[in-house]
Amino acid sequence: MFCVTCDASKELEDLVAKARPYSQHGKLASYIPALEKANKDDLSVAIYHLDDGTCTYAGDYQEKFTLQSISKVLSLAYVLAHIGEGKVFQKVGMEPTGDPFNSIAKLETSKPSKPLNPMINAGALVVTSLIPGQNTSDKWEKFLQFVQTLSGNTEIGYCKEVQESEFETSNLNRALCYFMRQHGVLEGDVESIMELYTKQCSIEMNCLDLARIGAVFSNNGRDPLSKKELIPEQIARICKTFMVTCGMYNASGEFAMKVGIPAKSGVSGGILGVIPNRCGIGVFSPALDEKGNSLAGWTLLELMNKKYDFSIF
Ligand code: DON
Repeated sequence: MFCVTCDASKELEDLVAKARPYSQHGKLASYIPALEKANKDDLSVAIYHLDDGTCTYAGDYQEKFTLQSISKVLSLAYVLAHIGEGKVFQKVGMEPTGDPFNSIAKLETSKPSKPLNPMINAGALVVTSLIPGQNTSDKWEKFLQFVQTLSGNTEIGYCKEVQESEFETSNLNRALCYFMRQHGVLEGDVESIMELYTKQCSIEMNCLDLARIGAVFSNNGRDPLSKKELIPEQIARICKTFMVTCGMYNASGEFAMKVGIPAKSGVSGGILGVIPNRCGIGVFSPALDEKGNSLAGWTLLELMNKKYDFSIF
């Protein structure tokens, strides 16, 4: 991750110390077996400040984690930029579900049978199926490059162990794909889509890299240092809107009330936070609450909101 300076913050360290005990009440994700190897106590946070391009951090900030569902925001931005809003929203909706992220229920009851939004698994699988490229490896390489550019870190890659673990056990996601293919919402070879999807979910980074990605969204799609456009402003806006309405699964309403910022979590325990025109935030703590959000991570963001007045509302 490249920024002007990165400094440990005593203030943030105090908040981390208050939030860390909450991780004991959470559970590691186990449906992707490799995720269960995480250290339950880990908690890290980084803030990338737009005004001076500096980064402050606290906790286990060097610890890497996989993006999991956080990658859904990035694949959405990428696909919107490459094939346009019209084609994407023909296949995936814009409404929150109130259901768990991997639920199949609304696919059966909605007419037409398209996923309600791109932040649930069904919607994200459709988005992944729309990533352009000659073949799976071409699609993957270009998408990974995009994530490297957003994070300002060309060393970012994916965790093979987590990817294989998910690929081998993704029966529910395969079921979602086949259901949608039957209804003409998803096209293409399901195994290739699963390979690409599990790779994007296994992209690995630390909280500093994630905060840098948050800073790009915070800066309306522009690189926080060079000011170059990395994501068109309108697409960055769409992504932030989905983060507010659907980013924390079926706890998005409660999160908006208690923290009040665009955010996206993943079952590895990562949370990407964006405070428009102010900063990007990366948080990681792998023990989850019953809805799949990082327990200590959420608590830390609540404490940060009280101290720094983050809420956009
Ligand atoms: O598809 C899955 O189940 C995981 N790779 C990601 C799930 C996740 O992080 C929660 N999602 N919204």
